[in-house]
Amino acid sequence: MKVLVLGADGYLGWPLSLRLAIKGHEVMGIDNLATRRAVEEIGSNSAFPLPSPQERVKEAKRILGVNIDFSIGDITNKEFLREAIKSYKPDAVVHFAEQRSAPYSMKDLDHAVYTVRNNLESTLNLIYLVKDIDPSIHILKMGTMGEYGTPNFDIPESPFVDAIVNGKNDKIFTPRWGGSVYHMSKIFDSYFLAYFNRIFNLTITDIMQGPVYGTRTSEIVEESLRTRFDFDETWGTVVNRFCVEAILGIPLTPYGKGGQTRGFLSLEDSINALTLLLENPPKREEYRVVNQFMEIYSINEIAEIVKRAGEDLGLDVTINHVENPRVEAEEHYYNPERKVLPALGYKPKKNLAEEVKIMIEDLIPYKERLERYKTAIMPKTKWKS
Ligand SMILES: NC(=O)c1ccc[n+]([C@@H]2O[C@H](COP(=O)([O-])OP(=O)(O)OC[C@H]3O[C@@H](n4cnc5c(N)ncnc54)[C@H](O)[C@@H]3O)[C@@H](O)[C@H]2O)c1
Repeated sequence: MKVLVLGADGYLGWPLSLRLAIKGHEVMGIDNLATRRAVEEIGSNSAFPLPSPQERVKEAKRILGVNIDFSIGDITNKEFLREAIKSYKPDAVVHFAEQRSAPYSMKDLDHAVYTVRNNLESTLNLIYLVKDIDPSIHILKMGTMGEYGTPNFDIPESPFVDAIVNGKNDKIFTPRWGGSVYHMSKIFDSYFLAYFNRIFNLTITDIMQGPVYGTRTSEIVEESLRTRFDFDETWGTVVNRFCVEAILGIPLTPYGKGGQTRGFLSLEDSINALTLLLENPPKREEYRVVNQFMEIYSINEIAEIVKRAGEDLGLDVTINHVENPRVEAEEHYYNPERKVLPALGYKPKKNLAEEVKIMIEDLIPYKERLERYKTAIMPKTKWKS
């Protein structure tokens, strides 16, 4: 299979490119390096030093013996993306290339507008270009479980649900309620995908993924193959951030009551699941939604797991709840459905308690580097300011 990976320099894009290449698929990556710049903008950096895309590709060839084509460019530039799809002729396009931080999108109006423009323009470009060039291309688009919010009902996996309003039956788009401009941009992406799937007869997988944690996949066997790893308040997802806090002796920082509950998955499981979904596309012209997570935890449970793992490794770890900078329910019902991946035979390979120990061990040698960006860890971006 020929796969075009948009956002191939990112936390998920790089390991997915390695995995697909090692499985014998042809891979071309595209990225405008926006995340590298935006992480530096807030005074932070990846925990692991990142080689340039050109060096990464060379190292993949030297160490794993695989070829990955890489092109630097912005997919909100429709002519650039048109040329890439036209000349590469992919069977599938993976769309990761979005601004993916909720706090970054909530900093101020400029960051909100950038997030909406970048995310919606990239998705619309992809939809229209696939329709123009070859509507049979499978679009695998990364959304987020955060699109659903935390409703008091079980979260369905199907794109549409039955609804009775004022005594009348109808089908509606599965309810969504985002908790940031970033999440709202993902919701609009999903509406566009479902809408244009019907109009242009496109074949789409729209993945609702939970927060990912981890430092490794089976291809990351040397430092030069590592993927980025963010741990600051803007870019670090919670498990990754807590692991770095444990190493730096900063109390772990659940926001507010810490009862916020989400579905998590390891980097290895995310990459395995994405590969499976690419190798098992939906039916032609189907809009398939996938709820992609493996284990459900509250933030308080995550903090306890990281504390125990740190203590087992000789670290002194404490937990200190801080004022919640976000506007979100801190205690709530949470029961999302998950059928598509199990039906494809997917079984998770990792669990949080074991993986967190590996993460802390992988990160300890970079303690001095982490210290340099310590001031970027405590929450500063307030939803209401
Ligand atoms: N990491 C997670 O926990 C997680 C969870 C759920 C969903 N997601 C989604 O998965 C996708 C990938 O996430 P990630 O963690 O790898 O993020 P990332 O920021 O590390 O990767 C995204 C990549 O896309 C690139 N990019 C952004 N805008 C671009 C543009 N206009 N043109 C070209 N390249 C562009 C960035 O430079 C970056 O390298 C994102 O869409 C994110 O919203 C991530």
